[in-house]
Amino acid sequence: MIKLIKNPQSHQLVIEKKANSLQGKISIPGDKSISHRALMLGAMASGETTIEGLLLGEDPRSTAHCFEAMGAKISDLNTEKVIVTGIGQGRLQEPSSILDAGNSGTTMRLMLGLLASQPDKFFTVTGDDSLRSRPMSRVIQPLQQMGAIIYGRNSNKNAPLAVMGQNLKPIHYHSPIASAQVKSCILLAGLMTEGKTTVTEPALSRDHSERMLRAFGATLEIDVDTHSVTIEGGAKLQGQTVIVPGDISSAAFWLVAGAITPHSELIIENVGINPTRTGILEALQMMDADITIFNQREAAGEPVADLRVKSSKLKACTLEGSIIPRLIDEIPILAVAACFAQGTTIIKDAEELRVKESDRLKVMALELGKMGAKISEFADGLEIIGGDLLNGADLDSFTDHRIAMSLAIAGLNAQGKTIINRAEAASISYPSFVDTLIKISQ
Ligand code: S3P
Repeated sequence: MIKLIKNPQSHQLVIEKKANSLQGKISIPGDKSISHRALMLGAMASGETTIEGLLLGEDPRSTAHCFEAMGAKISDLNTEKVIVTGIGQGRLQEPSSILDAGNSGTTMRLMLGLLASQPDKFFTVTGDDSLRSRPMSRVIQPLQQMGAIIYGRNSNKNAPLAVMGQNLKPIHYHSPIASAQVKSCILLAGLMTEGKTTVTEPALSRDHSERMLRAFGATLEIDVDTHSVTIEGGAKLQGQTVIVPGDISSAAFWLVAGAITPHSELIIENVGINPTRTGILEALQMMDADITIFNQREAAGEPVADLRVKSSKLKACTLEGSIIPRLIDEIPILAVAACFAQGTTIIKDAEELRVKESDRLKVMALELGKMGAKISEFADGLEIIGGDLLNGADLDSFTDHRIAMSLAIAGLNAQGKTIINRAEAASISYPSFVDTLIKISQ
């Protein structure tokens, strides 16, 4: 029996006992990264952008509200087909109040590139408790190299931020981290800047911005060998139809749930399988998960497929190096998979997890530890000795959506009752998560 108890302050997800089997066909919500980008580029472009399959989670809603406050018209966010009427010529209106990015790092970081490059316009930007504690210097510093004027708390590290838009100058930025948010911020600043702006990253991060910028009419050069992208400033974006595939980061919960719950078979339809995001499939295949990829196709410039997962005996693996940016958001759920895999799983080079919506290394070690998992935390990763049973426990999401959902999958496979406090966090990226959980566990 699974139930969601809705208290005024916080929701509790209660999972009474271990699932016997999971069965069914699942449609997952639209990709969060692509949803943000479709709203932003649609807002900057001339004409109408039709977005099909938009994620109706809290994060894209934050993006939509910010760009509405700067002149874009966005149809009701009640259906997955949304029309954005862009401001055209890329000139945002000065908002009359503070822009609120909510919990969304992607909204704040990508938007900063656009704001910094709007001459003579003034913007203030904030977010929730989690977002105000996350590092913004990683985008502010390169933007300052381009001539941006940005002020923030803690010596320009944290929001709230104040931005005085400028005519920027192009740079070649060598990013110390493989981060799509950093790369996209600089490319969006470069879009509004005369000349060629280049970003080189140490490993390839997700490339949705590059794909969508090209589709909207920007000129980009991509050097796959050096992980460099160059954008030519001044392109006039034209509204497009964007078909948003299902989010592989949301599919990941069901892939792991199907793999670790005995006698299970799940089909997950319409999953985006962009190669910069498929680290989760490779990791689970290394662990001997039984996953089939079928119906491969393309939708509006992004590869898509259906996935089938059947339960199997998992074995431990080591995850490190260039695969990490390709599964960065899936490490919490992979930590759950590792608890059910024979042997010792090692995750390295994942220090970025400490500055996500929560410190995901610390929180997963703490919460899975409460369930009896043999998990240790290192500066840049985790070690998990798998194969023992987990016990139900009283757990907390730390208001982090991916933690809430990962712990739910662990609870589904634990002996006895699990309670996940602050479970409403799931609606950041997956508003119907609990409904699907209940549906497939019957
Ligand atoms: C995202 C990039 C990743 C990811 C985040 C979404 C994006 O962050 O963790 O959930 O849409 O660009 P970083 O680029 O900071 O690694």
